[in-house]
Amino acid sequence: MFVPRSSFFALLSLALPAAVSAAAIKKRANCDCGYVDDQGRVWRESVESDFTSSAGALSVVSDNWLVQDWTAPPSETAPLARQNVVENVLSYQDALGLRTSAYDGSGTTKISEIDSKRGDVLYGTFRMRAQIPSVPGVCFGFFSYNGATSPVSEIDIEFLTSEADYYQRVHYTNQPGNVNGEADPDAHHSDSVPGADFTTFGEHRFDWVPGQTEFYYNGQRTDALQKNVPSVPSNIIANVWSNGDPGWSQGPPSADATATVQFIKMYFNSTSFDEGAFNARCAAAGSVDKCSI
Ligand SMILES: *[C@@H]1O[C@H](CO)[C@@H](O)[C@H](O)[C@H]1NC(C)=O
Repeated sequence: MFVPRSSFFALLSLALPAAVSAAAIKKRANCDCGYVDDQGRVWRESVESDFTSSAGALSVVSDNWLVQDWTAPPSETAPLARQNVVENVLSYQDALGLRTSAYDGSGTTKISEIDSKRGDVLYGTFRMRAQIPSVPGVCFGFFSYNGATSPVSEIDIEFLTSEADYYQRVHYTNQPGNVNGEADPDAHHSDSVPGADFTTFGEHRFDWVPGQTEFYYNGQRTDALQKNVPSVPSNIIANVWSNGDPGWSQGPPSADATATVQFIKMYFNSTSFDEGAFNARCAAAGSVDKCSI
């Protein structure tokens, strides 16, 4: 049944106790005709994970994310193995914690990662509200990933807590970010955001469109890259890790290093819900307005 959005909202505001948040109400709105972002771009689908919800962060994780448990060996540049530990994805500060444990000297770091269940994401806008760890020796990443291509297809936002100005420095990369062992200035930018303090909550965002990736902090565009833009369906991932690589994560951390994530919101197109199916759904919903994001 088609319910006009205005009366739908009116009904909800009458029926729901005042304690229900605006975010919870918004989720119930009919977005069958998709989303329109601040660049005027239209996206067909969404995954909104509010880790502060009363359901609990881990319950929200289990809806749309897979907690990783793989282990990777040391490499040429990294002296330590990495083990993804399920317990390092935790409920933390009324939100989601992603932790690398204080190093225990074993030769293996205990790290954490969540991967979106959706692996069919192809273009979109991806937003994470988070606080970066302040313990040196980890990399905190929010990124798209498809490891089946050679080289891998990946768009990265990364924070390196061993850098002197780590609280306002962010690394943006379309992989591969290196050419002949050197950083490729067209595929990797290391940016300082003046006045920023990433150890307080802020929104880190990448927009992925054909031919360009665009990056934002708290709604302000910080940078863009045109080289190596992925064009294959991908997962979206968040992680906190260290492998002792002196040229990147450094570390390992001597105390627990935990990122706090309040939300991840993805508005995107995918290879499993095409334009035709989208248009049919929208028509069936009475061609309602798109939801503004
Ligand atoms: C995403 O889907 C919308 C609606 O089908 C379409 O108009 C838009 O061009 C798509 N965007 C990209 C980047 O494919």
